[in-house]
Amino acid sequence: MNEIRQLTDLLAVMWTDYCDLNPAARRIYDLLTTQGETVLNDHIALRTFNHPKLGIKSLAKAFEKYGYVEKADYVFKEKKLYAKHYEHPQADLPKIFISELELEKVSPLIQDTVSKLVEKISPDQILSDQFSVCGRPWEMSHELYSTLAKESEYASWVAAFGFRPNHFTVNINALKKFNDIHVLNQMIESNGYVLNSSGGKVKGSVLEHLEQSSTMAEEIAVKFSDGTFKIPGCYYEFAKRHPLADGKLYQGFVATSADKIFESTNRRSI
Ligand code: NI
Repeated sequence: MNEIRQLTDLLAVMWTDYCDLNPAARRIYDLLTTQGETVLNDHIALRTFNHPKLGIKSLAKAFEKYGYVEKADYVFKEKKLYAKHYEHPQADLPKIFISELELEKVSPLIQDTVSKLVEKISPDQILSDQFSVCGRPWEMSHELYSTLAKESEYASWVAAFGFRPNHFTVNINALKKFNDIHVLNQMIESNGYVLNSSGGKVKGSVLEHLEQSSTMAEEIAVKFSDGTFKIPGCYYEFAKRHPLADGKLYQGFVATSADKIFESTNRRSI
């Protein structure tokens, strides 16, 4: 019982941090709740590098302590990412999706940058239960951020924001009026939000047992060592799950869909 309380406290801290970076998520959440909807989270996504000190495990350990169990893994060849998802036995708790950039596959520039950044983090920070919400534990210049982004938008996002939720995801199945992804997308767009259209606005299909869409991350002002610059922050995602042959809702992810959704934090001016 106490464990669940500690976990829900951690998830609440994560939601607050995420809404601070992505006020649009809070506004869309409010749009839904004011129309009588109860918003549950399908999953929360975290990003990291596969450095021995920072890999998926470093972010997963706090969740495992609170009862989460590793369920499946995913490979994103082109983006050089590897990911795992974790589920909690209590089904209304969000899945945790953690991805990592595979450093052995990127340039020496990114490898060397990450090695230097890692030195700035104290071991206590990594061991903390709140590592998933500690923010950026290192100094970063906008110049280096931009250089990293040319090779990997993903690497540049982690370098700029550190460790914090990249996105929360609305569980569409738990909605009443907006239980259909197309109806929900239309409501969100009609309220002035831009959806990620890479690979179509709806990623996945009923046949793949998962349909997903997401907003494009809005640009937010971030303080770098060489000034304050506006860069893409976090996005809000929406997931509708469909039943497998046994009648149970599919709980995994679809790599080809997630591959496109990663692009929701890409810079749009390039
Ligand atoms: Ni996601």
